[in-house]
Amino acid sequence: MDKALLSKTAAAMVARGKGVLAADESSGTCEKRFKSVGAECTEESRRSYRGLLFTTPGVEQFLSGVILFDETLRQKTDDGVPFPDYMAKKGILPGIKVDKGAMDLALCPGEKVTEGLDGLRARLADYFKLGARFAKWRAVITIGDGIPTAACIEANAHALARYAALCQEASIVPMIEPEVLLDGGHTVERCEEVTEAALRATYAAMASQQVSVEHLILKTSMVVSGKDCARQAGVDEVAERTLRVLKSTVPAKQPGIVFLSGGQSDEAATAHLNAMASMPGLPWPLTFSYSRALQNPALKTWRGQAANAAAAQKAFHHRARMNGLAAQGKWQAALEKQAA
Ligand code: 13P
Repeated sequence: MDKALLSKTAAAMVARGKGVLAADESSGTCEKRFKSVGAECTEESRRSYRGLLFTTPGVEQFLSGVILFDETLRQKTDDGVPFPDYMAKKGILPGIKVDKGAMDLALCPGEKVTEGLDGLRARLADYFKLGARFAKWRAVITIGDGIPTAACIEANAHALARYAALCQEASIVPMIEPEVLLDGGHTVERCEEVTEAALRATYAAMASQQVSVEHLILKTSMVVSGKDCARQAGVDEVAERTLRVLKSTVPAKQPGIVFLSGGQSDEAATAHLNAMASMPGLPWPLTFSYSRALQNPALKTWRGQAANAAAAQKAFHHRARMNGLAAQGKWQAALEKQAA
């Protein structure tokens, strides 16, 4: 466990004005997203699309890291440079999704537990050699009638902590992601309650597994109204509720917090981050680690056609720049200046 390296990596992940691109969609998720824009989903088309994102000119100004899927960590640019080497040269940290996905949790209908601990120590050693300096593990918490159960919250927190300990042992910074899903008709109050319970359990598990909170990054969902709830909380309310939960659960000595977009619109994800990052006196840097909210316009522009690559890169660069501004609380002001 190289603590100096862990500290350096964690600080770089949340460097001012930069955030993390999540490009670690499983092949199944890629299939769905590619299909939605009429693109074929093959190993080569996934390489080509992701290569387009990574090689976007100037995007390194806004990206501290990229989370890769196992397949992508082993792929190369059009010029034959392995993706992790290409990123490292641009000052972007390669990261790796190491969980094996959320599976049905036994005896808990409608709930999931994330798997992937078996053999993880060996996989992490391999990933480190391939250049990965941080990792991701996503736990999924669903809100519904009578759920989440304590069983689900605890099982996921325990797995997150076992994963985080293995990462730190391997000198890889663990990004711990307990995601409370947006799906459902629940209120924003209920989302706040569940997010708080999930984070509390997560940090209790970290302590019991001896994980050092100085050497990890939290990736969290924001406190928002369920997608089908009649009352949708506004930007300021989301920011206030999210920060209230984070301040009461996340240790101040943790190096940083990143957000997932979780199905929010591109602009809402940017506006929420901007509102939170504008608050003075936060104990940790906040930034983005979006997949959909960074990639949507690029994917829709690309549509599987090489001829659209440059336009897709432009769309991606724009969202990365907007979120880079939002992470500094400067997005709103920049928009107003542009409109003036
Ligand atoms: P979204 O931003 O699309 O939610 O994806 C982020 C992520 O990595 C989820 O695990």
